[in-house]
Amino acid sequence: MSSILIKNGLVVDTEWMRHYDILISGSKIQRVAPSIDYSTLPHDTTVVRADGLCVLPGIIDAHTHYHLVSRGTVTADSFEEGSRLAAYGGVTTVVDFADDNKVSLLDSLHQRRKEMVPMAIDYALHQGVYKYRPDIKKELESIKRAGIGTLKIFTTYKDVGYLVDDREELKTIFKDAKDLGLMVSVHCEDDKIVTELSASWKGQYRPIDHAALRPAEAEAAAIEYVGGIAAELDMPVYIVHLSSRKGLESVRKLRMLGVKVIVETTPHYLFLTKEKLEGPEGPLYVMTPPLRTEDDNEALQEALVNGEIQVVATDHCSFTREQKLESNDCRTIYPGIPGTEELLPLIHTFGMVGGRLSMSQIVNLLSTGPAKIFGLYPEKGSLEVGTDADITLFDPDYSWTISKDTTHSASGYTAYEGFNVTGKVVMTYLRGRLVMGDGIYLGLSGDGKFLRAKR
Ligand code: URP
Ligand code: ZN
Ligand code: ZN
Repeated sequence: MSSILIKNGLVVDTEWMRHYDILISGSKIQRVAPSIDYSTLPHDTTVVRADGLCVLPGIIDAHTHYHLVSRGTVTADSFEEGSRLAAYGGVTTVVDFADDNKVSLLDSLHQRRKEMVPMAIDYALHQGVYKYRPDIKKELESIKRAGIGTLKIFTTYKDVGYLVDDREELKTIFKDAKDLGLMVSVHCEDDKIVTELSASWKGQYRPIDHAALRPAEAEAAAIEYVGGIAAELDMPVYIVHLSSRKGLESVRKLRMLGVKVIVETTPHYLFLTKEKLEGPEGPLYVMTPPLRTEDDNEALQEALVNGEIQVVATDHCSFTREQKLESNDCRTIYPGIPGTEELLPLIHTFGMVGGRLSMSQIVNLLSTGPAKIFGLYPEKGSLEVGTDADITLFDPDYSWTISKDTTHSASGYTAYEGFNVTGKVVMTYLRGRLVMGDGIYLGLSGDGKFLRAKR
């Protein structure tokens, strides 16, 4: 069994940062200690000097859509491309989605797992539930047994067939999830507000109009709607990709009532505004919910710093420039942008500049927190002895500029073009195997493992 000694890096967990050595044996972390004497180790141990580098538990992107078949097309980053760009970003685990085929959740899950075999990094799945059926509880039981820990519900996209419209049906799904110990995550935009606005809309449908057509009020209303169901059932609810101050205020209201609301946001809602939707490149920045204002950015940034947001994930859903620019009508532009690779450097830059987040907080937001929330801890999200040796070596001082030429999405663009960031991933280990080192991708298609959530 091969051994790797990572020497003298700044080992970061959610509590501590200390100059320690880490010994990897095979796929697991074998020892973590202030100094491990090389002469006591097997003679073929590889020594990696990590002086000046942070040693982080592998980053987890808890919200991705790799190879998403939707709206008559497929996203740009399939499983190989997604794994590759993830490794460049220090991401060793993603949590992607299995769509509901509306016949059998278990078949839907099996189908998605089959598709995901080419993954080169590890992955878990959230299971979409897009239709109530009388025997849904049995179905939920079966997917739980098959390793699902979280359901994904939409409060919008009736037109695409994702909406469970009836409140009682939705409540039953929540109740069954609670009984089975499944987490419910929700994309929050009130479909009625969005469709009524659209019906009475006298304006155009340019990319910039997307922001007005899917307003923050719709997000806030949907949060209060699903939060109300969670309150009645005394259960937690996970809000995906929170985008607005109004939405955040609704979260605060629910929390005041005692509802356990777990909140995820994304770098694009933290750092980009709807001005990106203007001009000929506007379609590149269309996603749902839409980009909003600087005030919304600031509200979410503040919430990130003061602990009101538990997870930053990316909602990576990439289309090529050509796909995005096929339409200039916000109703038909394929929604979504790439983001997994930029996650850690963006959050590090925001956090470290001005001392807004410690490295330990960043680890909690991007690795340990999601691992615990989604039942992957401690194998993922920790540097504990005996756990998977998913390790990201990160140079916190390296300054660089994000551009399409310095990132690896098959979309051919990055939404953060020209952003100057501090901090770069130098090496990414997945279960003790180097999958990216010094700018070279070494991942192996098929090496990624499906992770069963423990709940
Ligand atoms: O526009 C987006 N976010 N596309 C991905 C699917 C979703 O709604 O999360
Ligand atoms: Zn969504
Ligand atoms: Zn999504």
